[in-house]
Amino acid sequence: MRNLLLWAVAMALMLTGASIANAKDIYTIGMSQANLGEPWRVQMNADIKAEADKHPNIKMIFKDAQNDSLKQRSHVEEFVSQGVDLLIISPKEAQPLTEPVARAMEAGIPVIVLDRRVLGDKYTCFIGADNKKIGHAAGEWIKKTLSGKGNVVELKGLQTSTPGQDRHSGFIDGIAGSDLKIVFNADMKWLEPDARKEMESALARFPQIDLVYAHNDPGAHGAYLAAKAAGRETQIKFVGIDSLPQEGIAYVRQGILDATFQYPTGGAEAIQTALKIFRGEKVVKEITLGSRLFTKENVEAGGQPLP
Ligand code: FRU
Repeated sequence: MRNLLLWAVAMALMLTGASIANAKDIYTIGMSQANLGEPWRVQMNADIKAEADKHPNIKMIFKDAQNDSLKQRSHVEEFVSQGVDLLIISPKEAQPLTEPVARAMEAGIPVIVLDRRVLGDKYTCFIGADNKKIGHAAGEWIKKTLSGKGNVVELKGLQTSTPGQDRHSGFIDGIAGSDLKIVFNADMKWLEPDARKEMESALARFPQIDLVYAHNDPGAHGAYLAAKAAGRETQIKFVGIDSLPQEGIAYVRQGILDATFQYPTGGAEAIQTALKIFRGEKVVKEITLGSRLFTKENVEAGGQPLP
């Protein structure tokens, strides 16, 4: 017993010694953002910065790929050749960013992947909400709200990005067994102007549309604007995802959206995870963030968590 205790004390001293020897004065983190054209991504960077600012030993370098996967690849490569201590990436698309992320790992740079995934498992930690679960909850809410029948338009997020794929497949599972019909669907690539244009086509083709399920709030808002221009906005319900206070939640308060599902940015969690990695602590491979549903009935009470 006594030997065991001595051994434990010796180990503890060794470990503290090691971490002191390895500790750096400043840790540089490269953050590769897919784009800053969308308010949600501006919020993600702000959340990262706010958390990083609490730690004087962290230096952040932000790069904005302006919604261009090739540009984002070069940004990752630049971070690697510059020798950052850690990389955070929110990739525009899964496939084109998989290899550069794997290269960073091979170069010994830990990588935290935020919100959109890469393919395979060559990264240190993935942080994000469960998009399948959100899509499923949206499907169930829509099924209940329309009493199991009606014509639905689905405006999808970029289908080469994993949240777009998962918000679709979760939704299909969520409406299973109902008489809901998806009369029109299109990839609006997460963009409000694209959603508006697609909705104009849907409105021209279908005299009866009961609800729009858009994979993000800008998409739902674009659809609402198209319906409003056609004088049909009061006949249609609109559902989105993100729930930024100044965007989706404000739309629910204004009666523009009937529901929005929260999609947290994970910015603070990314920095907290980076600090653990710097301290030499083991981190889990996957951190799943929660979500909430906001409707006009519960918005003033702060929404309702998904079970
Ligand atoms: C912003 C955004 C969000 C969406 C997320 C999915 O670029 O489109 O609206 O929830 O990306 O990755």
